[in-house]
Amino acid sequence: MDDESNLIARDIEAYLERHQHKTLLRFITCGSVDDGKSTLIGRLLYESHLVFEDHLAQLKSDSAKVGTQGTDMDFALLLDGLTAEREQGITIDVAYRFFSTERRKFIVADTPGHEQYTRNMVTGASTAEAAILMVDARKGVLTQTRRHSYLVSLLGIRHVLVAINKMDLVGYSQEIFSAIEQEYRDFAVRIGLQNVTFLPVSALKGDNITALSPLLAWYQGPTLMEYLETVPVGDDTAQSAFRMSVQWVNRPNLDFRGFAGRVVGGSIHPGDAIRVLPAGTTSTVKRIVTMDGDLEVAVAGQSITLTFTDEIDASRGDLICAADSPAEVADQFEAHIVWMHEDEMLPGRPYWLKIGTRTVGASIAPPKYRVDVNSLDHLAANTLQMNEIGVCNLSLDRPIPFDPYEANRDTGGFILIDKLTQNTVGAGLLHFALRRAHNIHWQDVAVNREARSSMSGHKPGVLWFTGLSGSGKSTIANIVESKLHALGVRTYLLDGDNVRHGLNRDLGFTDADRVENIRRVAEVAALMVDAGLVVLVAFISPFRAERELARSRVEDGEFFEIFVDTPLAVAEARDVKGLYAKARAGQLKNFTGIDSPYEAPESPEIRVDTASISSEAAADAIIDLLRARGTIR
Ligand code: ADX
Repeated sequence: MDDESNLIARDIEAYLERHQHKTLLRFITCGSVDDGKSTLIGRLLYESHLVFEDHLAQLKSDSAKVGTQGTDMDFALLLDGLTAEREQGITIDVAYRFFSTERRKFIVADTPGHEQYTRNMVTGASTAEAAILMVDARKGVLTQTRRHSYLVSLLGIRHVLVAINKMDLVGYSQEIFSAIEQEYRDFAVRIGLQNVTFLPVSALKGDNITALSPLLAWYQGPTLMEYLETVPVGDDTAQSAFRMSVQWVNRPNLDFRGFAGRVVGGSIHPGDAIRVLPAGTTSTVKRIVTMDGDLEVAVAGQSITLTFTDEIDASRGDLICAADSPAEVADQFEAHIVWMHEDEMLPGRPYWLKIGTRTVGASIAPPKYRVDVNSLDHLAANTLQMNEIGVCNLSLDRPIPFDPYEANRDTGGFILIDKLTQNTVGAGLLHFALRRAHNIHWQDVAVNREARSSMSGHKPGVLWFTGLSGSGKSTIANIVESKLHALGVRTYLLDGDNVRHGLNRDLGFTDADRVENIRRVAEVAALMVDAGLVVLVAFISPFRAERELARSRVEDGEFFEIFVDTPLAVAEARDVKGLYAKARAGQLKNFTGIDSPYEAPESPEIRVDTASISSEAAADAIIDLLRARGTIR
């Protein structure tokens, strides 16, 4: 038994005490499929006697069954936990491992090397302080190596160990090692990686893992274990300004009001002056409360509850900052975005953006550029596909407190979530607030919407007709407009085909173009509502997300979603414009209902079943609803 296990057996209290005061290193391993990172970590655990005995027995029998190393033990099996990856021979998810030595505790995220899995890499890397990049000595620096290095740099990992593996297969050659080192150094400079260390190893044979190998006598640096035990940790967040995002407000009785959360930057003491953002309220820390009693100081990484000397308001999502170096507050940014979903990024679509404990609505402008992670060239792009990285402007539906990602990973990093599926679709790093956000203000107008609508004798509103091409949207909208006009209501009809001749002439029928089509029309409709009109909008508007966006642009009770529900077969049989025939013949791409989706409304204000009701009757029902809701008299 080694020293650790001895102590566990003898004096568990002493062991835990010692354990608690060790530093913690979080690191990731990355590399291509066959570079041997699982073998490396497996070997590290084995050599430092950190594998439990029962695991070892398991490993021996596993190796015999599915190992790729003949009768030698297959150390990759120690890490490749998932059955699927054993079968496919690739690692497909992030596996977190915890181990410790006399000097330090470690959490390693083993991130997949397969081209598709940028997402997992970003997940694993987001809290790491060091990265081990695996390079196969026979192959040198590959696309994967560059991609991973770029992400490592982007994600702000400060320390990089380039482990040049399989040295046994290149005769432990110093020339080969040096050539790879030189090539990598050139690349590292270009992406701004500073602390790069190079280490020749054979994970399989155990060279330079815990002891320097006589076969690599020309190498003078640390072993893998020495590197991991000595690389500096916790150097940046502790030095930065105090930040804590409020997770919840703890109010067990009227005498106690505490704000609970995790410190994500700097440190805090009772008596320190703080500022709550975005509101800007200031106060002074009275107590730092924890489960184990009050503290004199709390630092980044700790979960605490703060009480203040004043009765101030703060709620979930707010950021408590050092009063003399608060975060910025803004609602428009430039950011790096890493797209993670099979469905491409749709500029203009409303997504959720989650930063710290705060979630807000966000929309992304078309990328300024996409980064080729090999050449580092900036490429033109209209969108981002899965695994692509680009720089985009984004705008939020309300201001948030933030720091540039470079200054603080927690207050500058965010994820993007699809509003309908709740899937995480992207991750991003804030660069800076757009200056225009500070320089464009709301201008007060003397004549407001109330004044305008009082003149017209009715309230404004949006009648949003959605349905397949040929469902009858325009027909019904026309009848409704004629009837409203006869009643003296000020109206305007925005029709898809017509608007596509002017304002939206530049747009086609890809998903991205339809999103932009509807975004613009939603904005125009909102302006017309502001002008006091009843606006009729007749667009296919196939996506729920954009119809919800249109709804959100006007006040509650002003938006009427009208689902013109005509089955595809019926619309196709009518085929007034002959477009269905063309689409079926393959002459027209992305046709709604054929090879482009239509997401039917789930709870529209009105559903018109055109099979059982005439257009006239449908129009009357719509007018009745407007009366019942008080839009018209
Ligand atoms: S939307 O999907 O972006 O809302 P919009 O209502 O503006 O579509 O335009 C739909 C009209 O464009 C249809 O009524 C049809 O006349 C014409 N059109 C031409 N190509 C297509 C297509 N690929 N899919 C749907 N409609 C098309």
